[in-house]
Order: sequence, then C-alpha cells, then structure tokens
Amino acid sequence: MTDSHFKSKKLDSIPLEKGSFSWQSPSNIALVKYWGKKDPQIPMNASISFTLSTCNTRTTLIYRKKERPDNKMRFKVIFEGKPKPEFHPKVEEFLGRIHAYQPFLNAYEFEIHTDNSFPHSSGIASSASGMSALALCLMSLERKLDPSISDEYFNRKASFLARLGSGSAARSIEGPLVVWGEHSAIESSSDLYGITYPYQVHEVFHDYQDAILLVDKGVKQVSSTVGHGLMHQHPFAKQRFQQANDHMKRLIPVLEKGDLDSFIQIVEKEALSLHAMMMTSKPYFILMRPNTLEIIERIWAYRRETGSKLCFTLDAGANVHLLYRNDEKDLVKTFLEAELAAFCQNNQFIYDQAGRGAKEF
Ligand code: DP6
Repeated sequence: MTDSHFKSKKLDSIPLEKGSFSWQSPSNIALVKYWGKKDPQIPMNASISFTLSTCNTRTTLIYRKKERPDNKMRFKVIFEGKPKPEFHPKVEEFLGRIHAYQPFLNAYEFEIHTDNSFPHSSGIASSASGMSALALCLMSLERKLDPSISDEYFNRKASFLARLGSGSAARSIEGPLVVWGEHSAIESSSDLYGITYPYQVHEVFHDYQDAILLVDKGVKQVSSTVGHGLMHQHPFAKQRFQQANDHMKRLIPVLEKGDLDSFIQIVEKEALSLHAMMMTSKPYFILMRPNTLEIIERIWAYRRETGSKLCFTLDAGANVHLLYRNDEKDLVKTFLEAELAAFCQNNQFIYDQAGRGAKEF
C-alpha cells in the first residue's frame, strides 16, 4: 500500500457548516523502541507497544466553514481551558503535512480544545496521545463528509495521519498491542501506519500493568525529534536497527507462550539500548537521572529476592515504567510505595495498564 491510498476523495461541495467531534486517545509504551527515522516520518526499524488506558488526551475539534475560503490553515489551540499559542508551530506543521491527504481542511477554521489526564509537567510525552486524538477528530470530519469510508480505513488513516504528527502516535489508535514499521515476520505491518499485533497473545499479557514512576518532571534537554536526527550519523545505527528488528521477531513466540523470562530480557535490553544510543551519539547526552538507576537496581534486587517477573522500560526521559502481570499487582504496589516512591519527584507515580485504544466521546 502506498500513501496515495490515503488521499481523500475529491469533494464537489463542502456541505457542513459547523460542528464538533471529540476523541480520547491513550498514550503508549514501547517494548521495542522506535529511535531513528527518515522523511516523511518513516521509522528505521519496526516497533511494538502496549497501548495504555489511564494516561490519555481528550480533544474536541470544533469546525466552522470559512466565510471566505483561502489557502491558510486557520486554527486555535486551547489547552486545559486556556489559549496555548506555544502549541501552534507543531500543529501548523502537522496540518501542513496532512493537507495533501485531507484537502478539505482549508475550507474550515478550527478550535482545538485539549486536556491530558496526566499532570502537564509529568515528563510523560503527550505527543502520541495528543496527535492521535487530533487525527481521529479530523477523521470523524472526513467520515461526515464521506460516510462511505469503512471502520478499517478510518483507523488506518487515523494512524497514518497521527504518524505524520509524531511517529509513536501511529501506535495510539488501537490496542492493546500495536506494531508500527514494516517487518518481514509480521504480516500486514507497514511503515505508514500501526496495526494491532496480528498473532496469538498469551492471556498473561491481556491485562498487563504499567506503573509510571515520575523521576524527573522537568523539560527534557534533548527532544525526541532531535534524538531521532542524531541516529543519522550514529556509529552504531545499523546494528541498533538490526537489533530492534531481531527483538521484534524474538517477541513473537514469547508473546504467544507467555514466556516472561525472555520478555524481561528483551524489554529491558531495548530500554538500555535506547539510552545507550543517546550516550554514544554526537553530541552525547544522558536522559536518565541518578534515581532512574537507583530504581533499576532495586527492581533487579527485588526480582532476585522474590522471583517476581516485574521488569522496567524507559522512554526518552528519566521516568521508569514498571511492567508486571495483573496477578502481581498487590505485591508490586506494596514494593513500589515502600521502596520506589521515595525516588520519584514529589513521590509521584501513576498506575496504568494495557488498554483497548481510543474512544469517541
Ligand atoms: C523513545 O514519536 O516522540 O518514545 O516522531 O519525532 O514525534 P517523533 O518522535 P516520538 O519518539 C518516540 C521515541 C520513544 C520510543 C517509542 O515510543 O517507540
């Protein structure tokens, strides 16, 4: 499939005057990481994530037909009830990129009202849930203009558009496990959009838990977009993309059999490889904080002492995601609150779990 599949039908008239659509989209946590891309937002390796449920963005898109049509994108962003001009450049770039696939956008002016369920400065990336929610609202508008589009096309194109806003957003439409990036061992996988993981998944993963330890809520010194860019000249880039694709393949029997020991090996290695790339790029940088390492060591000690299958992963920041099976929930809660919370900024953490994807509201 090529991107021309996602160019919307040419509409003879734009019949809708005004209205609104609202979508709630989840964040996601990658097990195999996307780090490195080429234009236009094409990943250098395949990735897979758990879709989350508690951490999400709620967006309402209000559209009004322009009185005098022009070639400009006209929109306002209102974040948590207040105008947020700081978000305009990112949204403008996004709308500019997707215009080729939704040419009717220029006929409208938009108000984008958006809120996150997680604290604003938690260090949790809101670009995945935010871009996904906005892409879904825009797809609702497209479907209202062209009711013939199927549910499958709707979700695929929502993921395709979300990807053009932020790569990982392609994985925030459906759930609980989503693959983005073409991989020879994964049927129907694509660089253009995310698909729900197509093979058998052991029941232990159906309700997997993710507790997010907020280690450092400050603004990151290096954004993901800059970090991706540094993979272009990276001395270990080729090996890293190969490693990620190997991990994707190795995960298939692990997910099928519920082999948690192998799952832990792959997931933790991915997290540390991601940060190893940051530490060896030019310029090098470190996003982990001393408390990130303290927490990792305590997880390893806890596993040695108790035989628990708790493991960790990291995103592009200092926060630690604890991943564990649902039946370890009470034990992990006790351990987290007694031993790990002290290493979080203001003792803050969030309990989340694998979820089913975005919802209209
Ligand atoms: C470390 O999706 O935030 O979380 O495409 O530039 O918006 P852009 O980057 P982004 O990168 C996410 C990187 C990651 C790994 C992952 O989610 O796979």
